[in-house]
Order: sequence, then structure tokens, then C-alpha cells
Amino acid sequence: MAVNAPFTALQVMQDAPVIPVIVLNDVAHAVPMARALVAGGIRMLEVTLRTPQALACMEAIAKEVPDAVVGAGTVRSAADAKAAANAGAKFAVSPGYTSAVGQACRDQGLSLLPGVATGSEIMMAQEDGYTELKFFPAMQAGGPSMLKAWGGPFFDVRFCPTGGVTPQNASEFLSLSNVACVGGSWLVPADALAQGDWPRIEQLAREACQLKLR
Ligand code: 3PG
Repeated sequence: MAVNAPFTALQVMQDAPVIPVIVLNDVAHAVPMARALVAGGIRMLEVTLRTPQALACMEAIAKEVPDAVVGAGTVRSAADAKAAANAGAKFAVSPGYTSAVGQACRDQGLSLLPGVATGSEIMMAQEDGYTELKFFPAMQAGGPSMLKAWGGPFFDVRFCPTGGVTPQNASEFLSLSNVACVGGSWLVPADALAQGDWPRIEQLAREACQLKLR
């Protein structure tokens, strides 16, 4: 049975110009990192299901950082969606799209940003009711010019390009009328995590918030 998600996909996208794509290998990093991002102005946090510690990290953030909204990235199956919801995730991001993942997210009360890289994938996601999509991998699959081309036939879709987005090229994406935000891993560098350099992560978040939508 579908459960209402606490945040719509559009709300997740419009909270800040950038959704950080986060890879955590140590549960001890989760809470101070989330606090740093929130202090810098970023609340919507995509913790990717790529490490054995990811679910425990989500749980810790959900429990101890009430101003953060933890989401799960790299959701590839119904089981991933269920585990993420159980760990306290409030939204999900997937690198591709299947109807089974969409259904599982609706069942779990997770809003979903489905990943797409082709027109057919956009149409499949639209058939299931999705109009806010992640364009992945954005730079490798065509970059800003691909989004401009999609703006014709898919005039009613808004995108979060992710993959190869940097502080240098983010503005080019954000200036497009069909882009609501971008995703990127640069806000949480592995070396900043390893060094416990939370002020650097806060500063990266602060700078990301200065990026402007058109
Ligand atoms: C992702 O993992 O969703 C993206 O690959 C993040 O890409 P980036 O590391 O190029 O920002």
C-alpha cells in the first residue's frame, strides 16, 4: 500500500541548489558530517548504499541530526528501498529506473528521484507518474546540451543532473529551465572525511548554496 512521503521529490530538489552524493565508510563520520552540511545550508543528504556502513550511517543521521533529511542513494532494488526506509531515509535516488523500485518506494513512503539517461527511460518513468528525474551520468551522457534537447519533447520534466557535475560546471546546468538542482560528490571529499575536517565540508556546503538557479 502506498504511504505518503514526508517530502515530495520536488521539495527534495528545491531545498538547495545541490544534493550531496555521499559515500561513508565509517559510522563515526556520519553525524559530524551531516551537522557540517546542515550548518552550511544543505539539509537534503543522499547517503549512497555503496558501503556496508551506509544503513547504519543513515540511522545515526536520522536519529541525531533532526535538521537533516536523510535520503538513500544507489537504490537499485525493492530490498534496498525497504532497508533504506527502515534506516530512516525520507527519500530515495536511483541510478536507473524499474517499476519495481518505483512501487517499493511508494510502498515505503519514500519519494524517488529515478535515474534516466535516455528518452525511453524518461518515458518509462513518466508512465509510472514521475516528472522529477535524476539525469545520470550527466556529463558522460550528454551534459547540458542533452538537457536542452530534452527540454523540447519532455517540457514537463525537471531534472537533477548528477555525475561529473563540479563547482565549475554546476552553474551551466543550473541555468537551464528544466534543471531544479544538481547532485555531486564534491561537497563531501573522502580526504575531508578521513581527516575529520568538518569546517571544510561546511564551507563547501556554504559555497554550494551560493550557486544560483537561473
Ligand atoms: C553518483 O554517484 O550518483 C554520481 O556518480 C556522483 O558523481 P560525481 O562523483 O561525479 O559527483
